[in-house]
Amino acid sequence: METILLSAETADIEKAAAMIKNGELVGMPTETVYGLAANATDPKAVAGIFAAKGRPADNPLIVHIAELRKLSELAEDIPVLAYRLAEKFWPGPLTMILKKKPCIPDITSGGLDTVGIRMPAHPAALELIRKSGLSLAAPSGNVSGYPSPTKAEHMMRDMNGKISAVIDGGDCTVGVESTVISFENENTVRILRPGGVTREQLLEEAENVIIDPAILHELTEGQTVRSPGMKYQHYSPIAHVIMIEGSYEAFCRYVNENAGENIYALVFDGDEGGLAVPSVKYGCNGSEQAQNLFSCLRDMDEKAAKTVYVRAPEPEGVGLAVYNRLIRAAGFEVIQV
Ligand code: TXA
Ligand code: MG
Repeated sequence: METILLSAETADIEKAAAMIKNGELVGMPTETVYGLAANATDPKAVAGIFAAKGRPADNPLIVHIAELRKLSELAEDIPVLAYRLAEKFWPGPLTMILKKKPCIPDITSGGLDTVGIRMPAHPAALELIRKSGLSLAAPSGNVSGYPSPTKAEHMMRDMNGKISAVIDGGDCTVGVESTVISFENENTVRILRPGGVTREQLLEEAENVIIDPAILHELTEGQTVRSPGMKYQHYSPIAHVIMIEGSYEAFCRYVNENAGENIYALVFDGDEGGLAVPSVKYGCNGSEQAQNLFSCLRDMDEKAAKTVYVRAPEPEGVGLAVYNRLIRAAGFEVIQV
């Protein structure tokens, strides 16, 4: 199959919307990462998403909407707090897990009786959803296990020949995926995956915000998995990623002791000198690091890096999401120096 690269102009979005209506798959830019979109209520189209990504069948997809009134068409028993959060954070990087209505096929929800719903903030995504007149299932557009795409070229690398088109909507501004939350009760939400909307922001509307333990720690055997995505190896380039916690001086000392061919360092803006291996900078604060992380990890594979030592980000604000992605990219290999 030939995968065509479309622009974000209306005429091209109309072409993409026609493909979606026809049951085909399209790479869709969002403010977080690029998604692999198809009609959420068409089991055959959704099966195509799982096949193209090589995604385990029990890992549910997020359904994307462009109109708030769609929420009650797709979900039921919606807490008042969910409407308050939608009001405040949509369109934007927040996914809410709610009880699904029968119009959501089992394949879309990975066999669960819940569905994750989000209204993305990218104009091309909103236009595609509106022009198709459908709700769109869209996981991140990477091959399962690989870092998420934050540029159209990343989507092309992973999906060329497997899907009908990719819409080039430019670089993603958030750079990490949405915050996924579930509702414990009318006042309490649980963060299942940290993302662009932070715990601090959620606390402006919810009385309590629980951070699920699986965000920062490896699941132990027998532990309840509240979000199937937490079970799987994720966000990993081919290169071996090792996260290092400590000062820049101690980081340099450790990396230099382990220097060699095709060894790279991923450091903060402002970290200067002292390294015996080539380094790449990925930002100086949580939002910048979020924006650059996946692209930097993919670049490491372009450079044929064997091992990448990464300075651990501060797990605060959006930095919590960056930390969560990196610790998984590293397969929980963290070294304190
Ligand atoms: O920003 C994003 O959320 C991007 C863009 C494209 O919207 N999408 C995305 O989808 O990251 P995906 O499929 O790569 O990640 C969705 C995560 C998975 O970890 C999945 O297990 C979890 O959300 N999830 C989805 N539906 C769920 C549900 N009903 N219950 C629990 N977890 C759910
Ligand atoms: Mg993903």
